[in-house]
Amino acid sequence: MTEAKRKTTAGNAVESRSLSQSTNRLVELIRMRRSIRHMTGERIPDEDLELILDAARYAPSPENMQMWRYVLIRDDEEMKRIIADISQEAARYVFGNYPYESTQGRLWYMPDAGRPGTYEEMRDGSLFRYPEKADAVIICCASESWHDSAVMYSNELCGSVVVAMGVMNMWLLAHSMGYACAYQAVPFADSRHIEFICDKLGIPRTWTPLAAFCIGIPEKPRMLGPSRWPLEGSFYAERWGVPYKRLAFRNQKQHESKKKTKKRGKSTQ
Ligand SMILES: Cc1cc2nc3c(=O)[nH]c(=O)nc-3n(C[C@H](O)[C@H](O)[C@H](O)COP(=O)(O)O)c2cc1C
Repeated sequence: MTEAKRKTTAGNAVESRSLSQSTNRLVELIRMRRSIRHMTGERIPDEDLELILDAARYAPSPENMQMWRYVLIRDDEEMKRIIADISQEAARYVFGNYPYESTQGRLWYMPDAGRPGTYEEMRDGSLFRYPEKADAVIICCASESWHDSAVMYSNELCGSVVVAMGVMNMWLLAHSMGYACAYQAVPFADSRHIEFICDKLGIPRTWTPLAAFCIGIPEKPRMLGPSRWPLEGSFYAERWGVPYKRLAFRNQKQHESKKKTKKRGKSTQ
């Protein structure tokens, strides 16, 4: 994109600067990443998968304590099926009783023709069976009890955060390589399911499984997703409640006031 063209793209600060190719690529990857829940069941080359797993190690953590553990399930098809069953059951519980009016709001971005089908897949939970079609089902675990720390690092503030950062590293890298990823938290919403999964996998009590992060081959490319709120909706400036204003809008105001001053200058000449 040329500098001039970038300047005309209203709305985003990063687009008004001249960026290196790799930065532009990263911005694109971040913006195009999606949850892809339809996978073929095919395998990913081992080297690719290992590269993706390795990205999780580079996430930050308090005092670099790396309080994450990931259980990679790849060959145990029965375990994948069990997680798919639990996911479907949990999703059916969550979405099954939703009236159409409340769910369709979340699917507003889909074409009319696709919406009822997705709604149905959400209601019967089948949309959430994807762990059985993923090549890698990664059970992401966090811990708040840490042997060389005097304090407990609560999962809400630290454990789940470090795991999320590791997952995001894997997600972006996998996405850049054309693989499908989705984050399955529903099977870990019910303590009975958590206990059952921990028992099956031998996860000790000091570790909390947060989600099954799934990676596989996408069945088809996914359409662009729901847009996010603008910066003004997510960021406040200096104080809570004061919306951040994008450069494009600030510049527009400056531009207008400059124009006004110019006009005034002319009329007084
Ligand atoms: C904490 C958390 C829990 C989530 N739980 C689930 C889940 O249980 N199953 C699922 O398929 N997606 C889950 N997601 C993915 C979101 O539904 C998804 O990111 C969101 O709808 C935006 O869509 P996108 O990822 O395609 O941009 C979860 C995401 C987060 C961050």
